[in-house]
Amino acid sequence: IQATKGNYRHFMLKEIFEQPITIGQTLATFMDEFGKPANGFEDIDFSKYKRLFIVACGTAYYAGAVAKYWFEQVAGIPVEIDIASEFRYRQPILDKDCLFVAISQSGETADTLAALRYAKAHNVGTLALVNVTTSTMAREADIFLPINAGPEIGVASTKAFTSQLAALACFALAMSEHTSFKDKETIMRFTKALTELPDTVSETLRLDAQIEKLCLGLSSAKSVFYLGRDMNFPIALEAALKLKEISYIHAEGYAAGELKHGPIALIEPGTPVIVLAAQDPLFDKTVSNLREVSARGAKVYLITDKAGAKIASEMAEEVIILPECESFVSPLIVTIAIQLMAYHTAVHLGTDVDQPRNLAKSVTVE
Ligand code: G6P
Repeated sequence: IQATKGNYRHFMLKEIFEQPITIGQTLATFMDEFGKPANGFEDIDFSKYKRLFIVACGTAYYAGAVAKYWFEQVAGIPVEIDIASEFRYRQPILDKDCLFVAISQSGETADTLAALRYAKAHNVGTLALVNVTTSTMAREADIFLPINAGPEIGVASTKAFTSQLAALACFALAMSEHTSFKDKETIMRFTKALTELPDTVSETLRLDAQIEKLCLGLSSAKSVFYLGRDMNFPIALEAALKLKEISYIHAEGYAAGELKHGPIALIEPGTPVIVLAAQDPLFDKTVSNLREVSARGAKVYLITDKAGAKIASEMAEEVIILPECESFVSPLIVTIAIQLMAYHTAVHLGTDVDQPRNLAKSVTVE
């Protein structure tokens, strides 16, 4: 993939639309010829590690936050997750049983690199999940896993995020093979859903025109809230970050159940609340949160699937219906919708989408 815009108006839009290909590249990196996520993990002594530390910044941190659910629910291995700029100052309890995992698109982010060096200095095994193969982190970590998303030019990360997720999903499945935490049948179902992701993502991208239209309503908002439970919680955080980064609209992501403990005070008639509830095992609980905000006049945008739309459509102003998929891969599908939302809102507002003010693609100072 060449680093040119092609027929797209912005690099960001091109990178969003590239995702069926880039996710496919990531999966091809980690899946063997039998479709098992086994490639690239040969150097990891799975029997040695009892705990993972995932450390990253920005969007990469949210990829790690999703992966925590995967590692714990699928491989049964506890995960601590840290923002890189906090990690080494909080004096984490590290020992030989833990594997340190840095996630970084650029492989150069100063805080993440410092955290990696801190872990090494404490004799902890280190792994870097990185896009830029020639980067410092790729070189310095004991184990390097390339996500192979190709060059990402837009400052706001899109395709690197979904490739980080795809790689981490493979990693968690590879680990589950060793821990035998989940039954084989479930693992096979999850693996199949992963291999089908490029098609599911292509299908999701067909919602582009609907999302573009709906963003006209978002672009005049003062504040936007994203709600999600379980794996959709970190996606809600990433959605808010994406919108802030490129549209400059104030946005917050919240665990749906936490909203009533404060932020609900900010809901006024017309405040947009975007509810992420696709293939959600906690759908009913999220719907009750949706009811709470809608009773206070919020303008609810519901991102869900067919079954969810049947139950909750009339409480929402707008409904985006995503293609059916396993809940295991659903965070990647929801991501496509929230990326398009942020993009089109920013375009309506006329901001510099590829190079938003005050932001850098790679932050090499602490
Ligand atoms: C910057 C970028 C973000 C990115 C973060 C981490 O803030 O603007 O898009 O998520 O750095 O970058 P990394 O290269 O470490 O993934």
